[in-house]
Amino acid sequence: MPTRRYDPVTISLHWIIALAVFAAYAIGLVREELPKGDFRAGLLTLHMSIGLLVIALTIMRIGWRAMTPAPKAIAAAPMAAFAARMAHLGLYGAMFAIPLIGLSAAWMKGRVVGLFSLVVIPSPFALDIALAKTLEDAHGVAAHAFMILAGGHALAAIGHHLVLRDATLARMVPFVTPRRSSPGA
Ligand code: HEM
Ligand code: HEM
Repeated sequence: MPTRRYDPVTISLHWIIALAVFAAYAIGLVREELPKGDFRAGLLTLHMSIGLLVIALTIMRIGWRAMTPAPKAIAAAPMAAFAARMAHLGLYGAMFAIPLIGLSAAWMKGRVVGLFSLVVIPSPFALDIALAKTLEDAHGVAAHAFMILAGGHALAAIGHHLVLRDATLARMVPFVTPRRSSPGA
């Protein structure tokens, strides 16, 4: 039976967003370790620009998802299906909340926020350094939690492919074929 994959737009958005999230996370961490200077400042501009792209792409993704429902779920134990649904909900929430918290922190600290230094997005907030600091800390902690959730999600997908041998991974990766046919896929 051929695998019923996610549509190409969903697959493309899924992988572009995943790449952007991992890049924003890695740049955020590396930057923290660098001495103050132009390079560190440039990395923050890059970090914020990639994060803003994540917000824009997530809006597109959710809009597309509303118009294009996911393929029928692969048969699974009710608890496993519930856990997957909750994990996906958590990932969608994180894709929005984490960059939005970073954005609010940057604005409240008076940082210039823009897309790759091309367009500056003016702040709707008054300066509030104390709240900005709290939001920056929350942004960092939430980003670490996001990576743990995304890591668990990736391990579950790979586990489906290698252990359960079903089509879960193949539905999101165009060049992967399931190791056996899956009811519902
Ligand atoms: C999915 C998107 C994002 C991820 C995964 C992410 C992740 C991170 C991480 C891991 C750090 C380092 C935190 C630490 O070590 O304490 C960081 C710092 C920071 N992020 Fe993000 N971030 C994202 C989006 C954004 C966006 C959209 C903005 C603002 C427009 C932003 C603004 C900042 C700022 C200002 C800092 C530095 C705070 C400081 O100097 O201590 N981030 N981010
Ligand atoms: C930051 C990284 C990631 C984020 C934010 C993310 C987010 C998501 C979300 C929200 C869904 C639900 C799609 C829907 O039905 O609307 C999904 C599905 C999926 N993701 Fe990810 N993902 C990430 C990384 C990965 C990685 C690294 C892998 C594999 C190694 C992966 C494999 C999959 C698969 C196979 C599905 C389909 C699951 C199913 O049909 O039940 N994802 N992802």
